[in-house]
Amino acid sequence: MSRRALLVSGLSVTALAAVGYGTWPRMGAYAEEAARQRQLLAAEPELGELVRMASLAANGHNTQPWRFRVSEGAVDILPDFDRRTEVVDPDDHHLYVSLGCAAENLVIAAGASGRRAAVSAAGKDGVGIALEQGAAAESPLYEAIPYRQSTRSDYDGAPVSAEDIRRLQEAAREEGVELLIFTDVVDLETILEAVVEGNSAQMDDPAFVEELKEWIRFSPDEALARGDGLFTAASGNPVMPGWLTRAMFGLVFRKGSENDKYRGHVRTSSGVAVFVGDKADPAHWIRVGRAFQRFALQATALGLKTAHVNQPVEVPSVREEFAGWLGIPGQRPDLVVRFGRAAALPMSLRRPVGEIVV
Ligand SMILES: Cc1cc2nc3c(=O)[nH]c(=O)nc-3n(C[C@H](O)[C@H](O)[C@H](O)COP(=O)(O)O)c2cc1C
Repeated sequence: MSRRALLVSGLSVTALAAVGYGTWPRMGAYAEEAARQRQLLAAEPELGELVRMASLAANGHNTQPWRFRVSEGAVDILPDFDRRTEVVDPDDHHLYVSLGCAAENLVIAAGASGRRAAVSAAGKDGVGIALEQGAAAESPLYEAIPYRQSTRSDYDGAPVSAEDIRRLQEAAREEGVELLIFTDVVDLETILEAVVEGNSAQMDDPAFVEELKEWIRFSPDEALARGDGLFTAASGNPVMPGWLTRAMFGLVFRKGSENDKYRGHVRTSSGVAVFVGDKADPAHWIRVGRAFQRFALQATALGLKTAHVNQPVEVPSVREEFAGWLGIPGQRPDLVVRFGRAAALPMSLRRPVGEIVV
């Protein structure tokens, strides 16, 4: 099936089976659920369908830290602080970036459904989106929503063309957000050093490891039951019985091997994008999320994959050094995202719309 045909028909189970879901018994049920969640909109969708599309956005640890308040003419995306990750994200930076990612998906999906959507408020209380009737505007970014994923694998190392990089920059343009793109191998090595330094600090912190472990879903059944978190197969790890993977976690999740994994990830990427908000506050973090989500959707539309390597911005001491290297001392770099070409991994799941609408 051509890529275009796939995009038009939405994700089919067969297509998903072809992207690494493997033959583990419950993976069939997992793949079916992922495909069901990732259909494009049917004709004349209700607002709940826009919420489904919004929830397919990137979000830290896939905690889905949001609630949606839906009324005629407006959708508010509220922070769900019960789903904050206080160790890796003590000031809720990632939480607000995640709200921005969801807001962007909602605005794009609303446009495709014949509603004009505009962000009317953004700050510590979340994001307000006003909806009006308009002409349906489907776009490559809309069609990419079900296909975007965080692809945590080695990429093919081939360069991305200057024209594609220009399109990524264009898609991510957002007032109050600067996007820096690095493709030079010397720069990528320096960024990798910061990733390894940050990752080493995190792996040495038992609270970080414990929090991460809480959000890992070790089997398809666990992932299906919870509809959130980081399913091992969606991170490129093998599927085994949940009890076995859980028991082996401490043995295989080691600083040395994790750092080696990141060396492979960054060295096979075509480039790294760094997002920097003009200010460090929820309004700007939401803007950063919107810019990143458009970047990732445009990458998907171009056949590229993306994955976060945020360690340099998550560990405060490394972040300060990293800002100095970026030439923005005193400012806060928000996201570090690698991009390039790779095969798709299994998609991550989301919770049902009924659970996230208030
Ligand atoms: C603010 C933010 C921070 C993130 N940080 C990381 C990260 O450091 N490492 C990583 O592998 N993924 C990171 N992610 C990706 C999420 O884990 C991912 O979006 C989530 O698991 C859902 O999966 P999906 O992107 O494939 O839909 C981050 C995403 C966001 C929005």
